[in-house]
Amino acid sequence: MANTILVTGGAGYIGSHACLELLQAGYQVVVVDNLANSKLESLKRVQEITGKSLAFYQVDIRDHDALADVFAKESINAVIHFAGLKAVGESCEQPQMYYHNNVYGTLVLTQVMAESNVKQLVFSSSATVYGAAEQVQYTEDLPIGAINPYGRTKAMVEDILRDLSASDSLKPSQSPWKIAVLRYFNPIGAHESGRIGEDPNGIPNNLMPYVTQVAIGKLAQLSVFGDDYPTPDGTGIRDYIHVVDLVKGHIKAIEALQSEKFADGGCKAYNLGAGKGCSVLEIINTFEKVTGRKVNYKMAPRRAGDLAEYFADPALALRELNWKVEKNLEDMAADTWNWQVNNPQGYN
Ligand SMILES: NC(=O)c1ccc[n+]([C@@H]2O[C@H](COP(=O)([O-])OP(=O)(O)OC[C@H]3O[C@@H](n4cnc5c(N)ncnc54)[C@H](O)[C@@H]3O)[C@@H](O)[C@H]2O)c1
Repeated sequence: MANTILVTGGAGYIGSHACLELLQAGYQVVVVDNLANSKLESLKRVQEITGKSLAFYQVDIRDHDALADVFAKESINAVIHFAGLKAVGESCEQPQMYYHNNVYGTLVLTQVMAESNVKQLVFSSSATVYGAAEQVQYTEDLPIGAINPYGRTKAMVEDILRDLSASDSLKPSQSPWKIAVLRYFNPIGAHESGRIGEDPNGIPNNLMPYVTQVAIGKLAQLSVFGDDYPTPDGTGIRDYIHVVDLVKGHIKAIEALQSEKFADGGCKAYNLGAGKGCSVLEIINTFEKVTGRKVNYKMAPRRAGDLAEYFADPALALRELNWKVEKNLEDMAADTWNWQVNNPQGYN
């Protein structure tokens, strides 16, 4: 019998890679996206690469009736919820827009899911929910302490999902919620075909797309914010994860939700990261080595709010989801570059 996954935000960077892996793994895929930060071209290419088709609905997840229509038309087993706004800076400027889209959007989605009795959900959370912790390797049991509106939308949605799951105990006659909250570290890279990848609007917010746009000459220079952190080379250390490894973690999460492990329901958070840190200079050096291109960069002062170092402890995901990363930094650099040179204007 078909196992149909509704992917919200499926036309976006991570969502399009998830659709590709889901189709290749034999799932039926239904995408809901309002195309606020993506282009339909990504899904056209996903279908070309896989030779399989998916269903697409241009719907905003905040539109209850339009979303309910999708659930009425399609026979959905589980939802992977990527739809959301993700720029930290923009969230500080326009917090209402972020709370409305990310928090209210998830409330509408879960309401429609409950009305349709679809109760398996994988949610895109973020390592930003941890805020500033004492330790540099983050485990899932650390306190939540997001420090910006974007991070707080993720933390609030996590609370909502835990409350939903907890409410099951008061309604024993109903089927329980089965929810995996996935806390991503820093997704980079692109599918190895070079046909889909990250296509940021305007100046990129994230390091890797910035590096590639400097290397290809679209941007003049990269600023490395902070070279006096207490790290081996003085630059900030983060945990980078290849987007293909990341989306495979979602398929593992779906498998777990549909297995005996979640037979009684529950809401559980998992870190998805490599489990080791890598500095900004290491990223630049690896990128230069793999591509043979120079990256013009300059050192700049630290940015307020940036931490010196943090990375994931992904042991829980290994233990309970049987997932770990398979790709390394060289793969991330090579695949990002392959996408960039083949698509200098992104999907345009
Ligand atoms: N990329 C990262 O570094 C990162 C890190 C941690 C968490 N996340 C989370 O992962 C998810 C996917 O991120 P991404 O990098 O693919 O972003 P993206 O912007 O490329 O994809 C998000 C997609 O959601 C769609 N969307 C937004 N609001 C919507 C709405 N109200 N209704 C329907 N569709 C809507 C957008 O059009 C876009 O296609 C987001 O929730 C993001 O917060 C991303």
